[in-house]
Amino acid sequence: MLTIQVCVGSSCFLRGSKKIIAEVKGLIAELQLEDKILLKGCFCHNKCTGGVTVMVGERLFTGVTPEDIRELFEQEIIQAVEGDTNAFNQNK
Ligand code: FES
Repeated sequence: MLTIQVCVGSSCFLRGSKKIIAEVKGLIAELQLEDKILLKGCFCHNKCTGGVTVMVGERLFTGVTPEDIRELFEQEIIQAVEGDTNAFNQNK
């Protein structure tokens, strides 16, 4: 199980963490990854500049925007849960 934590601290919230959470939820459902990904909110990581902070497992991504969460999902999250991008490509 891979844990994704989206910061819902005040700065990240203002920069779109709610939209990012909605987008990630949609991608998890689209790719039927409910049993492989746990989506949680988290509080400030003191990396508040330029966008939302997202933790994927132990890796911290900063400056994430609602516009680029899909790309992050494709490049980092799918690989982390599947070992390759097959799950995403099969459902496109
Ligand atoms: S509010 Fe999200 S990292 Fe500070």
